[in-house]
Amino acid sequence: MNYSLAIHGGAGAIRRRDNVPARAALARSLDAGYETLKQGGSSLDAVVAAVAVLEDSGLFNAGRGSVQTGDARYELDAAVMDGATLRAGAVACVSRIRNPVLAARAVMEHSPHVLLAGAGAERFARHQGLRMISSSYFVKAKHKTPHGTVGAVALDQRGNLAAATSTGGVSGKLPGRVGDSPLIGQGLYVDNAGGAAGATGVGEEIIRAGGSLLIVEAIRGGRSPQEACEQAVRRLNALADVEHRDIGEIAREWLARSLP
Ligand code: GLY
Repeated sequence: MNYSLAIHGGAGAIRRRDNVPARAALARSLDAGYETLKQGGSSLDAVVAAVAVLEDSGLFNAGRGSVQTGDARYELDAAVMDGATLRAGAVACVSRIRNPVLAARAVMEHSPHVLLAGAGAERFARHQGLRMISSSYFVKAKHKTPHGTVGAVALDQRGNLAAATSTGGVSGKLPGRVGDSPLIGQGLYVDNAGGAAGATGVGEEIIRAGGSLLIVEAIRGGRSPQEACEQAVRRLNALADVEHRDIGEIAREWLARSLP
């Protein structure tokens, strides 16, 4: 049975001196997600497992490695979506949850809502039994060179798609700023009837350009994932004053489209 996983740790090149640890973390993330799929686990289990590894690594701008706000705090965002049911969950502006991607999944599975933010999201996560942290958990800025937002899309053996995204946002952001990552349709979108997509880059630009939903709809309309992503990046660059070199999208089409 066909199954697959794609992950990213942000757009742009990884600096040479960061190359080995960052690539090792990406390999661990792929292993975690791929093993889940190989054992017959769901695409949702796989993307959450893959993203949690990157959140814990401290090497990417998500989870432990998140960048700071303008007032030297941490405000993290994450989301998940299930392509079989179109259920989704997200958290925004959280600073006390160790793995925001797990909290996003808990919002989807154990609340009537899609997005919880701030203190309410943290209280919910604590009640769900998720691990909480203090600000000393984060890798301090002077010791790190975090790469970007992290994300994953997967197709499982039952033909179901899922996606997950997690980020610390943009460095020096205003407190309370929310980017594309926790917004369903922007930082990610999944529909078994089309495809799965996740975005990385400056959230304000991604939101203005229309985000990941456009990519999934382009795939549904017959474009390949590659064409759909290129179209989205072209659209984004047309809206922006300067050409973006640090914007990326990953997408996976639905199984039926990928079979000969
Ligand atoms: N794409 C991550 C952010 O702008 O928050």
